[in-house]
Amino acid sequence: MKKDLIFLGIETSCDETAAAVVKKDSKGKVKILSNIVSSQENIHKKYGGVVPDLAARAHADKIDQIIKKAIQKSKVHFDDLDGIATTAGPGLLVCLMVGMTAGKTLASFLKKPFYGTNHLEGHALTMGLIKPLQFPYLLLLISGGHSQFLSIEGIGKYKRLGTTIDDALGEAFDKTAKILGIEFPGGPKIETYAKKGNGKAYDLPKPILYKSGCNLSFAGLKTAVLNVSKKLKTKQDKYNLAASFQSTVNEILKIKCQKAIEMFLERHRSIKDKNFVIAGGVASNLSIRKNLKKIALEQKFNLHFPPINLCTDNAAMIAYAGLLNFEKGKKSNLKMFSQPRWPLDQKAPYMKGPGLIL
Ligand code: KG4
Ligand code: ZN
Repeated sequence: MKKDLIFLGIETSCDETAAAVVKKDSKGKVKILSNIVSSQENIHKKYGGVVPDLAARAHADKIDQIIKKAIQKSKVHFDDLDGIATTAGPGLLVCLMVGMTAGKTLASFLKKPFYGTNHLEGHALTMGLIKPLQFPYLLLLISGGHSQFLSIEGIGKYKRLGTTIDDALGEAFDKTAKILGIEFPGGPKIETYAKKGNGKAYDLPKPILYKSGCNLSFAGLKTAVLNVSKKLKTKQDKYNLAASFQSTVNEILKIKCQKAIEMFLERHRSIKDKNFVIAGGVASNLSIRKNLKKIALEQKFNLHFPPINLCTDNAAMIAYAGLLNFEKGKKSNLKMFSQPRWPLDQKAPYMKGPGLIL
């Protein structure tokens, strides 16, 4: 008979120090027993972006307390754990090393299996924490560091259909916010500004809209925002630029999602249960959610969003990805290194700079 599986997850890839405990019971039911996240927003605010050394120091200061809290809240004991999963990449090297050192030390001390886990795999499988979802499904991952369409075909089976050739979408939101004088991290504030503005006020570019499949590009849009911003006079102008930026993003996503759906269906011609999952921090944006809902409905796909606290970085998704890999028989690897660059689809071509094929 199958037994319950309990995993501790640790996440320190960027500016969130997080630990969580996740359980999958013998009937396959998944439960988050604890999910502790400590954000470093206040530390990085005055610099307008994440400062790697300060982030690493803050992780090192807090990680033991965060793990302790996650264990206490979960009401399990260290001895009850079946394994420990820690984000090994992609992310900031100095930050990843803090979580990896903590996770490896705990795992070797407790004699538990250790899994250096891919942060993107965490985002890709998050939806399973909420409800069972059959493979394959289409994933749009939109975060501060990544913007990708992936066909999720099983644990460890990920096919990238498209990616950004320059900036990530969250980065474009954050940079637009910075241009408008909004404090870091400004992405969520753009949404608030946009509500008060006219989305048609400025005509902004949509790079590679009908080119390069479902690959994405946001650098030109950001530059256009910078150019327009020099002419702004009133607060209302700022609201209008935020609204125009957001509605341009929605138009880009509409065309690119249609293309990604087409590519996904070409790969899975006989698929009946068509599911589209949106993950990553930008998936918290309600206007983007509304837009994607409409597209999915038109294309007869069921659309799934994780709740907002699981869209942004957290350790529950890391614990869960580690647990699923353990269940699948993947070997524990205490010798694993932190990997700042670690694509989910290892065979996908590098799409930035000279690797770009339009
Ligand atoms: O997934 P996440 O927490 O961290 C990364 O792995 O990058 O995503 C953070 C990103 C940031 O760029 C943030 O500005 C963006 O998600 N974000 C938003 C919203 N909430 C978070 N962007 C637009 N609208 C939002 N409501
Ligand atoms: Zn993330």
